[in-house]
Amino acid sequence: MVVLVFVMVCGVYICANCLKQISTRTYLNIKVVDQPCQDLGIEQWEVPYVHYPQPETFSREECGCNPVWYFAILSMQRSGSGWFETLLNSHINVSSNGEIFSVISRRANISSLVKTMDKVYNLDWFTSASKNECLAAVGFKWMLNQGLMEHHADIVKYFKKKGVSAIFLFRRNLLRRMISILANSYDKDAKLLNGTHKSHVHSSTEAHILAKYKPKMNATLLIPELTKAEEASAKALQYFKNIRHIVLYYEDVINNRTKLQEVQEFLRLPVRELTSRQVKIHSGLLSEQIENWDDVQQALKGTSYQSFLQSDRKL
Ligand SMILES: *[C@@H]1O[C@H](CO)[C@@H](O)[C@H](O)[C@H]1NC(C)=O
Ligand SMILES: *[C@@H]1O[C@H](CO)[C@@H](O)[C@H](O)[C@H]1NC(C)=O
Ligand SMILES: *[C@@H]1O[C@H](CO)[C@@H](O)[C@H](O)[C@H]1NC(C)=O
Ligand SMILES: *[C@@H]1O[C@H](CO)[C@@H](O)[C@H](O)[C@H]1NC(C)=O
Ligand SMILES: *[C@@H]1O[C@H](CO)[C@@H](O)[C@H](O)[C@H]1NC(C)=O
Repeated sequence: MVVLVFVMVCGVYICANCLKQISTRTYLNIKVVDQPCQDLGIEQWEVPYVHYPQPETFSREECGCNPVWYFAILSMQRSGSGWFETLLNSHINVSSNGEIFSVISRRANISSLVKTMDKVYNLDWFTSASKNECLAAVGFKWMLNQGLMEHHADIVKYFKKKGVSAIFLFRRNLLRRMISILANSYDKDAKLLNGTHKSHVHSSTEAHILAKYKPKMNATLLIPELTKAEEASAKALQYFKNIRHIVLYYEDVINNRTKLQEVQEFLRLPVRELTSRQVKIHSGLLSEQIENWDDVQQALKGTSYQSFLQSDRKL
């Protein structure tokens, strides 16, 4: 009897232990599948912004558990965003995929917008800016007039859900921006550089040739157009104010390189020296860049845009 009872107790004990081990093991398995990457360096507030994409087109391999931040550069044409993007892309861990919504079908409706962004943020979008598997930040450049303002409510929802951070890049001197727009659109037809149109250049010779063209500005339209540009940027800031963001001005980035450090910190990147081969097209005195400088001066004097007339050689 004693032996029988002993055997029974032992049996129950072994069985119970076995069951316990099996259940902990399955519990652990489930845990492992749910949270494949546990980066202990992530702070609590960062959790919604940190991603571990699993691209369909390639494997992130040993960098599969490197956290990735999503961003979008929100800007306007001729505000230095092309240059800014080349700077960002000189960082080994950043892919900024250009103006993907310049293609109209991609911004036809909110579902095509979302489909395109999903592909970019899942690292399945391929451009010359695509990097290897060890990315830490991925994004693209979006102009305000490329469906961004039109679909702002849905885009804000998407940015919130996905944890996308916004980098606003504007230009302080909107008069200089207008000169750049006029010159760029003139060159689309004139093709001053040996018959090819260029929006951005890589040598001072090319910059010099393009800057030779001095646009004539319509003084009547000047104030309405400056106001329109100013209102567009104010509206964008208003729409996206609840999205995690940083606001940059082209002039500040040119004058103060610590701004680039600020951007890298904003994207939680290891800070590096960023470089670009692009050369500024219009540099020098404003009065030398406009054909009817006197009219322009006349039109802006005494208005809130008067400060745009001030010449700063560096800009
Ligand atoms: C959205 O636009 C795409 C591309 O133009 C089109 O194929 C699709 O049918 C549109 N979807 C809706 C819901 O309108
Ligand atoms: C940046 O890229 C390098 C080289 O591919 C990689 O070793 C490093 O882990 C990456 N850094 C981050 C923060 O992802
Ligand atoms: C245009 O072409 C000429 C002759 O081929 C060359 O010498 C010159 O450098 C070119 N200029 C530019 C701006 O590319
Ligand atoms: C300026 O633009 C207005 C409105 O488009 C036009 O009526 C006017 O003729 C233009 N003035 C000049 C000098 O081109
Ligand atoms: C450059 O920018 C940094 C950060 O925004 C700021 O603290 C610093 O005062 C600026 N320096 C100059 C010379 O404006």
